[in-house]
Amino acid sequence: MHFIDLPSLLSAHGTVRLPGSKSISNRVLLLAALAEGRTEIHDLLESDDTARMLEALKTLGVGVEWQDGVCQVDGTGGAFPLKQAALFLGNAGTAFRSLTAALALSGGHYTLSGVPRMHERPIADLVNALRVLGADVQYIGQEGFPPLALSPAVIRPGGVVPVRGDVSSQFLTGLLMALPLTGVETTVEVVGELISKPYIDITLSMMARFGVQVVREGWQRFTVPAASVYRSPGRVYVEGDASSASYFLALGAIGGGPVRVEGVGRDSIQGDLRFADALLKMGARINMGPNWIEASAPLCGPLRGIELDCNHLPDAAMTLATTALFAQGTTTLTHIASWRVKETDRIAAMATELRKLGAGVEEGHDFIRITPSGTGLLSPHGGIETYDDHRIAMCFSLASMATTLRINDPGCVAKTFPDYFLRFSEVTHPVPVIAIDGPSASGKGSVSARVAAALGWHYLDSGALYRLTALAAQRAGIAWTDEAGVAAIAAELDVVFDENSVLLSGEEVGEAIRLEEISSGASQVAAWPEVRKALLFRQRLFRQRAGLVADGRDMASVVFPDAQTKIFLTASVEIRAKRRYKQLIEKGVAAKLPPLLLDLRERDERDSQRSVAPLQQEETAKLLDTTELTIENAVAQVLLWSKAVLSEKFL
Ligand code: DC
Repeated sequence: MHFIDLPSLLSAHGTVRLPGSKSISNRVLLLAALAEGRTEIHDLLESDDTARMLEALKTLGVGVEWQDGVCQVDGTGGAFPLKQAALFLGNAGTAFRSLTAALALSGGHYTLSGVPRMHERPIADLVNALRVLGADVQYIGQEGFPPLALSPAVIRPGGVVPVRGDVSSQFLTGLLMALPLTGVETTVEVVGELISKPYIDITLSMMARFGVQVVREGWQRFTVPAASVYRSPGRVYVEGDASSASYFLALGAIGGGPVRVEGVGRDSIQGDLRFADALLKMGARINMGPNWIEASAPLCGPLRGIELDCNHLPDAAMTLATTALFAQGTTTLTHIASWRVKETDRIAAMATELRKLGAGVEEGHDFIRITPSGTGLLSPHGGIETYDDHRIAMCFSLASMATTLRINDPGCVAKTFPDYFLRFSEVTHPVPVIAIDGPSASGKGSVSARVAAALGWHYLDSGALYRLTALAAQRAGIAWTDEAGVAAIAAELDVVFDENSVLLSGEEVGEAIRLEEISSGASQVAAWPEVRKALLFRQRLFRQRAGLVADGRDMASVVFPDAQTKIFLTASVEIRAKRRYKQLIEKGVAAKLPPLLLDLRERDERDSQRSVAPLQQEETAKLLDTTELTIENAVAQVLLWSKAVLSEKFL
């Protein structure tokens, strides 16, 4: 399985240029294809959802061309050149609904299908409305759901077409955008309460940009006048995506800020911008210009839980659900029934994953109520599931403001924001790490512990985890040569590290894991890739405020490749054997120098020759040879190097 481990964060501030709005991009693409003339589309979102729309348009014979990052669409004047086509639209709801309507009125033979989840998302309300107009739309599979087959039919426009508005506003959007193809004045009447009204605003505003003025009476009746014709405005600039902005604004509100998003602002037409008002209500500070918004944490105290009707900002509301983890008190989000028919059942998915983080969650048909645990966030070892839903992946990334977090299948963000995690890393500042690698008995343990104490940081003795695994396997009767068996033990280790003790399943084992037999076992089990994989996240979880000093063999290369300071600490094998000998004698353990020397040589060999994460000096690590140094000298050197690298704010 793919995953991304987001490091625990100290703060967030910086500026993000947003990708183009998905809602606007897909509307503009279809309108440009239906219009007379060529349209130059600037800042078009390049993501899975827009790729599906572009592919479909090309399949339908529409001329599409990219020039210097600008998308050029040759309008068809309302008649798609190809009258027969099979379109695959993935999980792009905006593309599926609007193309269904446009093609149903276009007089051709078309099939439209998508990924399995798309075939679970209802479409009957749109199909019923199209059938009132005389369109021939058939369900290929289950009644009421995609895939669909469209055939030529006698279209009878005019009069009043009813469409339900309480499941998805995309049905109304699709219908309105298609109606100018008929040339006859037609009124659409919304049945039931219209949800997500701001998305309809985007539709009307984009249609107007292409020359068609819809007459709106409240949110109930929408009339497309006779002889409405789409004409290209020539050049269109796509605004930044307001839903995508929500993650960064929330980061600013939680992580100090200011975080500024560019591409949306006071002049934006997207309803999800009201997210900024919601943050304001939670106590965040918001600043806004025509084309930018900035969010910062409250001047004093934490964010506050709120109760909010989210009908007008369904997508960005998901971001409030994870922001609620950082607020004092309970947050209740209502009027979110549409979440259940999106990329996944978002209410159920959010509730499940929020509970994994330790929050109290109540859910209902159209609401979710979140109460943070008050004792910090948990971080599930299995990671956060993302349900092939870009927004789940993005909104849970916020939890890394409290803890290191694993997010499974993060690639799903490509639906609307392919480089989300890169942008995220550019405005967040992770808890710093000093990684100290080196061979056995080089003194890195003593040096690391003292550096951690001097800085007031956490300390990870990663070797202890391999030692504990070897001991736990031995106690469970599992041979160190049994990779799968030992890996299973490693995944389930019940360990508590305290100030001066190490507890394995509640039993003190600080001494037991230092025995020579277990040292040798640790070196053997550490060579198994599956064992290393099982211990990876457990090690990363040690990265907590204000910082971490981690010692081992692969701290710099594998576990914390982004560590701010990397050191390779070593000493001659003879000196290391002497130090180990002295340690044992001081503890009253009988020891002889030659076998200790031999054993160290063997372990060095095994640790540095193994195929996974072998012990070696990482490219950018500084070499610290302690053969001639005292511990105090070595500690002073590490502190000096780290201070040179870490800025004052970390230390
Ligand atoms: O540092 P140590 O001697 O306590 O480590 C015990 C064993 O675990 C050692 O043989 C190497 C292995 N180890 C490892 O492979 N990777 C680490 N990050 C730490 C230790």
